[in-house]
Amino acid sequence: MVSRVIPVDPFDLVIFGGTGDLARRKILPGLFRRYCAGQMPPEARVIGAARAEMDDAAYREMIGEAIAEFGDGKAVDQDKLSAFLETLSYVAIDARGETGWRALAGHMRRKVVRAFYFSVAPGLFGDLAERLNAHGLTDDDSRIVVEKPFGRDLASARQLNQDLAAFFDERQIYRIDHYLGKETVQNLMAVRFGNMLFEPLWNSQFVDHIQITVAETVGVGGRGDYYDKSGAMRDMVQNHLMQLLCLIAMEPPARFDPDAVRDEKLKVIRALEPVQPHHIVRGQYSADPDDPESLPDYRTAVENPKSRTESFIALKTHIANWRWAATPFYLRTGKRMVARSSEISIVFKDTPHSIFGEEAGRHRNVLSIRLQPNEGIKLSVTIKEPGPGGMRLIDVPLDMTFADALGPDGAENVDAYERLIMDVIRGNQTLFMRGDEVEAAWAWTDPIIEGWTNRGDVPKPYDSHSAGPDAAAQLMRRDNRDWREVTP
Ligand SMILES: NC(=O)c1ccc[n+]([C@@H]2O[C@H](COP(=O)([O-])OP(=O)(O)OC[C@H]3O[C@@H](n4cnc5c(N)ncnc54)[C@H](OP(=O)(O)O)[C@@H]3O)[C@@H](O)[C@H]2O)c1
Repeated sequence: MVSRVIPVDPFDLVIFGGTGDLARRKILPGLFRRYCAGQMPPEARVIGAARAEMDDAAYREMIGEAIAEFGDGKAVDQDKLSAFLETLSYVAIDARGETGWRALAGHMRRKVVRAFYFSVAPGLFGDLAERLNAHGLTDDDSRIVVEKPFGRDLASARQLNQDLAAFFDERQIYRIDHYLGKETVQNLMAVRFGNMLFEPLWNSQFVDHIQITVAETVGVGGRGDYYDKSGAMRDMVQNHLMQLLCLIAMEPPARFDPDAVRDEKLKVIRALEPVQPHHIVRGQYSADPDDPESLPDYRTAVENPKSRTESFIALKTHIANWRWAATPFYLRTGKRMVARSSEISIVFKDTPHSIFGEEAGRHRNVLSIRLQPNEGIKLSVTIKEPGPGGMRLIDVPLDMTFADALGPDGAENVDAYERLIMDVIRGNQTLFMRGDEVEAAWAWTDPIIEGWTNRGDVPKPYDSHSAGPDAAAQLMRRDNRDWREVTP
């Protein structure tokens, strides 16, 4: 199946932090793929901006190398790469000073979409917004894109929102959560709201529980200093897992438009119940016994022997509304786990009575939505085990792995960043977080973090390459449930 590519309007995209890790690893290789696909028009211009002095040629060389290193592994078409690099230029600019702003103004064209990607530390967001305005670089149609972390608590998120709102309308602000750009996440909405099949069952009468797991195999790597001030709750749960939970739990919006969708997500966040202390398990990974030198324990990796920051968290929460009041939501995320896997599982209730007798076993339908790797949706259904051995039941998956179902074109995943950048240019905010959503998410998160800080809780150690601390398994077992296996 060949997907249609509709080119976006010509644009000027300024990437503040255009020499940084995110720009080189994700944003520019993603733009190059959109260029090759014909979605980024040749008239578009990308302007890298950072403090380091360099000319256009040096910047193009830097980005050419980044595309070779961080591209999708396929052979790079050198003619297309040269043409793409021609669309790039560079301006040395200081977000906190006056250097470079006039030069940047000289690069910008009239009558094209203007977008400004703030791929810099959040402490610079306010400075950038203020200077963009002071130098007359924005108009009513200009957009800014801001990266996570959007605050570290409610107070700082509010401050950031205010700093941006001083110069931009909410409709101009695109807060990225790249999880929302994943193909399967959008498919989740198509599956829920494009089919009649699931909606009648999508409630606590039929759903036993929902579990969301985002497991990583990597440790904190070179981000130790940042991560130790953040932890899994702030870095993953408050944004990515919360967004997934919203899409699973929200009511059908009246239209697939940005505010209708975000209004429904906001209602879910506001209906989340506070989490009880005994419904939270926090962990810190231990050194890899086979390779303690290069894969050290969490505290060594962050160079903080007394750290109480969690690299793993599992928790149980409820949504206080008619649809979900009796259905627990279990969330789990961690680093250095046994496999890299992001999966949402909707576990339906047992059949109320087995006509096949107890020996045939009780079976549950599970709808699992896999975000990475191997994006796809699987529904396990119960059938008779083939053969003459009587009525024995087994669970088999109805599998919609996109790579299989849609052929090579479906398998060619568009990276979340490239999809979201194209949405910015199109002016579609559906997959971006609104300011009130972010604040509501922090309002739920803050008391949980304050609770364990005040109690002086210490995270439990867990083995590298495991599913997290045993206490996380106990959290489910106490409810006669089990986590789904973390598999690659
Ligand atoms: N890397 C990721 O995978 C990732 C993922 C999610 C979110 N993020 C977020 O994305 C943002 C960028 O992350 P990153 O990893 O790319 O950081 P980074 O590698 O440290 O890059 C920072 C960039 O900002 C520029 N910069 C710093 N101070 C500046 C100033 N005063 N004026 C203008 N430019 C300045 C730097 O260049 P100069 O020093 O030359 O100015 C560099 O280009 C951060 O908010 C981060 O939290 C990153």
